[in-house]
Amino acid sequence: MKKTTSTKNILRNIETLDEIAVPLLRWFHSEKRSLPWRESPTPYRVWVSEIMLQQTRVEAVKPYFERFVAALPDVRSLAQADEDMLMKLWEGLGYYSRARHLQDAARIVCSDHGGELPARFDDLLALPGIGRYTAGAIASIAFGEHRPAVDGNVLRVIMRLLASPADILKDSTKRAVEDALLVRLPKNVGDFNQALMELGALICLPRGAAHCSACPLQRFCLAKAASLQGDLPKKTPPKRRRTEKLTIFLLAKGGRIALEKRPAQGLLAGLWGFPSMQGHLEKQQAEQALQAIGLVPAKFHALPAAQHIFSHITWQMVAWRVELAETPTEIESASSKSAPASSESTETNAQPTPLLLREASAPYDMQTKTPALHWATTQEIIDTYSVPSAYRSYLPYIRSTAGESS
Ligand code: ADE
Repeated sequence: MKKTTSTKNILRNIETLDEIAVPLLRWFHSEKRSLPWRESPTPYRVWVSEIMLQQTRVEAVKPYFERFVAALPDVRSLAQADEDMLMKLWEGLGYYSRARHLQDAARIVCSDHGGELPARFDDLLALPGIGRYTAGAIASIAFGEHRPAVDGNVLRVIMRLLASPADILKDSTKRAVEDALLVRLPKNVGDFNQALMELGALICLPRGAAHCSACPLQRFCLAKAASLQGDLPKKTPPKRRRTEKLTIFLLAKGGRIALEKRPAQGLLAGLWGFPSMQGHLEKQQAEQALQAIGLVPAKFHALPAAQHIFSHITWQMVAWRVELAETPTEIESASSKSAPASSESTETNAQPTPLLLREASAPYDMQTKTPALHWATTQEIIDTYSVPSAYRSYLPYIRSTAGESS
């Protein structure tokens, strides 16, 4: 039930798929290419062909397939094949890990399945080199199990039929297409799956090259009706990550370390972090920047650089552990600053401006803006404050550091 709901949320108009099986299969039976693995589609031949077709075009695979199954005609011969021979048979196809996985899987099939490729989707999926698409293709073509086989060609066909703008690079979209097809598979499931692949390979071509007038499904196709064939399927390119250079401060004073609450909006909003400034600050710059906000640095110790990768930003961090001298005003204000992990309850009325991510050279009005530092013991930081993993590299240094240089 939940699956259907999420499928409907991702894909629109899925009832369009209710009617495609008959015309699609009719077209496939008259137009399908004669391919070597389609003649006597034994499980072994289907498996080898599907692995070869994972990253290689049909026309390129044909001669390799013939040579391979002639030299290694069954699972046992593949399991026992000499590595050099295997690589020679694969030479020119590329992506050699496919051949290694194929042989690893053949050995497992011999040891765990009596030398017969397992018939069930789940058992196929457990073998090296076999993902959901390949397991679906083998299970349906070789064994007639009711499973969809959704590769790039099939995704393109389905997204156009449904005029769906869902991103085909997302796993959730692929799963939604699998779910939508699963409940609509006809009896002749192996042919149906191959027919969808064939339609994608011969008619429903990418990049504006679709031959819609020759398509057996044109009357159902919502992309064609809306002239959207050229715009679908949608693939959202992964976001480019920007890099942010930061200087992290472990400010130590009287056995406590400064934490600061991050701004309420944006990255790690409202969480505790170590104070930081934009840019990579040399010792002298760091000293000046701290003095500019009223702190009195006494000793500096350089900490190792670290990196943290968020979905759209990479933090490149350098860090200083700084022993601060206590000043009378700070002693007074620090005494009440120990705060628990919850974000809202600890805000002071004055809402001081965080030092976090401030540019070191930016003017700082000490009359109106006090750095919002909270002084916590190392034990409190470990037990009470939840410091995000972006700062994890510096947690070992919250304890006092030997050999500080001044
Ligand atoms: N691409 C991947 N598997 C295929 C198959 N069985 N037939 C045609 N093209 C394919």
